[in-house]
Amino acid sequence: MGPFFRRIYRAVKGWSTSVHSGGIISAAMAYFAWTPVMLSILWFGLVAGLTSTLQQVTDFGINPTNVGMFVYVPTNITATPAVVVAIHDCNGTAQTYLTSTPYAQFADTYGFIVVYPNSTNAGSCWDVRSNATLTHNGGGDSQGIASMVGYAISTYSADPTRVFVTGTASGGTMTNILCAVYPDLWRAASAYSGAAAGCFVNTSSDAGAFCTPDDIIMDGSYWVPLVRAMNPGYTGAYPPISVWYGETNFFNAYLTSYGLQSLEEWAGIFEYDTNEYQALGFNGYQKQIYGPNLQTNFDYDEVDPLPVHGDEDMAWFGIDPSLAPPVLPPPPPPPPVQHFG
Ligand SMILES: *[C@@H]1O[C@H](CO)[C@@H](O)[C@H](O)[C@H]1NC(C)=O
Ligand SMILES: *[C@@H]1O[C@H](CO)[C@@H](O)[C@H](O)[C@H]1NC(C)=O
Ligand SMILES: *[C@@H]1O[C@H](CO)[C@@H](O)[C@H](O)[C@H]1NC(C)=O
Ligand SMILES: *[C@@H]1O[C@H](CO)[C@@H](O)[C@H](O)[C@H]1NC(C)=O
Ligand SMILES: *[C@@H]1O[C@H](CO)[C@@H](O)[C@H](O)[C@H]1NC(C)=O
Repeated sequence: MGPFFRRIYRAVKGWSTSVHSGGIISAAMAYFAWTPVMLSILWFGLVAGLTSTLQQVTDFGINPTNVGMFVYVPTNITATPAVVVAIHDCNGTAQTYLTSTPYAQFADTYGFIVVYPNSTNAGSCWDVRSNATLTHNGGGDSQGIASMVGYAISTYSADPTRVFVTGTASGGTMTNILCAVYPDLWRAASAYSGAAAGCFVNTSSDAGAFCTPDDIIMDGSYWVPLVRAMNPGYTGAYPPISVWYGETNFFNAYLTSYGLQSLEEWAGIFEYDTNEYQALGFNGYQKQIYGPNLQTNFDYDEVDPLPVHGDEDMAWFGIDPSLAPPVLPPPPPPPPVQHFG
């Protein structure tokens, strides 16, 4: 998929340099007009073009909630491969996440391993609210996924300093949780349309729930103690994270606040000022860089859950920095966040 994205980026970049001011909007529209064509091409490439297939692994370590482990190991892996843990959304499975995201394709190109955890919970959502999953080695879904990393490192001689985590929606929330509960496992993370780690603490359900009463955006003074309590005694670093979120959720209208709560959470952990950032524009979305460990990507032309921006992840993870898209002037300011309830 790299070449297709690069072609689009070049087209958009060419447009924006030749047509100024209003050019950014039309360039962004051109990008989205292309998207369906591009996706249908990618789909066939993904399914037909892979060098290997998904394999199930059993007995990979402590797995209190019976999370399924599936791996994609390309026929040609590097001597000490990187590992990308890619976590599906509600209603998704390891298999659907393999076919709907580009990570396996990239694994073929760059010789890394993809681990696809598979939820057996109702609706195949992840447990993102129990005390067990929100506690280091607490006996929840997060612990099973952490065990998969240990298995991958020992079985495939993977590089423990290049293990990454990413996921969408419920899997994006689990990505945030894994960064909070097992911070030393990950070199970097990318969370798509997820809620902050601890967003659903003490709630009876995460279905359509707010992170806080009345959906008030809480700052680091709320989130940091919550994160630190998930791994008490841990004093090391937390992984750099790229937070992705869109305009609204497909089943409710307040997911934007999940992105803002995630920003407050990680800015608190990294001690960044949320009012100080570098704003960069890309193809229809705005990236705000708060420091080397935190960036948000607000794609208000897209509805949550966002599609994976695989090229960006490869660049953010350092697997191929050349895949970073060219910078455009920032798009117009986003609409105000809507609060409900
Ligand atoms: C396998 O990987 C090696 C080392 O990266 C590379 O030189 C070779 O071209 C790759 N082969 C295939 C078939 O991708
Ligand atoms: C999952 O699928 C069920 C049944 O099709 C649907 O009612 C529900 O909204 C879906 N949930 C998500 C998060 O997609
Ligand atoms: C993952 O789990 C679901 C049940 O949630 C199951 O239907 C599916 O076959 C499992 N395996 C894969 C590879 O997705
Ligand atoms: C959460 O789980 C941890 C580890 O199992 C336990 O020590 C702690 O007391 C639990 N906290 C609550 C509020 O249940
Ligand atoms: C969750 O509940 C526990 C146990 O009642 C309490 O100690 C903790 O402060 C609560 N956390 C939040 C964020 O409300």
